[in-house]
Amino acid sequence: MRIDILTLFPEIFEGPLSESIMKRAVEKGLVEIHFHNIRDYSEDKHKRVDDYPFGGGAGMVMRIEPVARLIEELKEQREYDEIIYTTPDGKTFDQRTANSLSLAGNIMILCGHYKGIDQRIRDLYITKEISIGDFVLTGGELAAAVMIDAIVRLVPGVISDETSALTDSFQDNLLSPPVYTRPADFRGHKVPDVLLSGHEKKIEEWREKQAYERTKKLRPDLLK
Ligand code: ADE
Repeated sequence: MRIDILTLFPEIFEGPLSESIMKRAVEKGLVEIHFHNIRDYSEDKHKRVDDYPFGGGAGMVMRIEPVARLIEELKEQREYDEIIYTTPDGKTFDQRTANSLSLAGNIMILCGHYKGIDQRIRDLYITKEISIGDFVLTGGELAAAVMIDAIVRLVPGVISDETSALTDSFQDNLLSPPVYTRPADFRGHKVPDVLLSGHEKKIEEWREKQAYERTKKLRPDLLK
């Protein structure tokens, strides 16, 4: 899978995408992540990428030309399954979207900034508008990093324990059951007996029941 990130702040991604599982996915060659600084595509002598909104009002608007030049250059090089724009007014990101995007070959993610981007960019180029929740971030970079983390761990081969991603919370619209490790007794707080029983079928049944009970208690909306 190849991910092209179009951003004004590539440095923001350095931490989240260069550690742990994300780092391994890139090193194993399962995922390629390419950064493109939108500012490099400005032909303005001051490298400006924003301008005042037509009609007045507060805030600046990302200009169409630098973004259009960059998107068109990338589209000439390969086909993209999705061109995503991160924005608080997009459709809320969830595990289903992560699953589906993890099967893509090439995706582009355009990170929003300022008051927004010229609407014509959205109309002409964007195939999917995604929000990571009902709150406003300073820019789309952290939203893109969150999405990439959720997508990349689902790419086959990224997580070595194959079943691990499949048993994540939300994969079947259920939260995960509780988990325990040693010691079996911490100051009198004991691990449920069934988990120490070695009885695989009973353990599986217990986990399913716990997952259901936990979901019913904490996220009843998922069971509807
Ligand atoms: N940009 C600003 N806020 C955002 C959000 N909640 N989701 C995605 N992109 C954003």
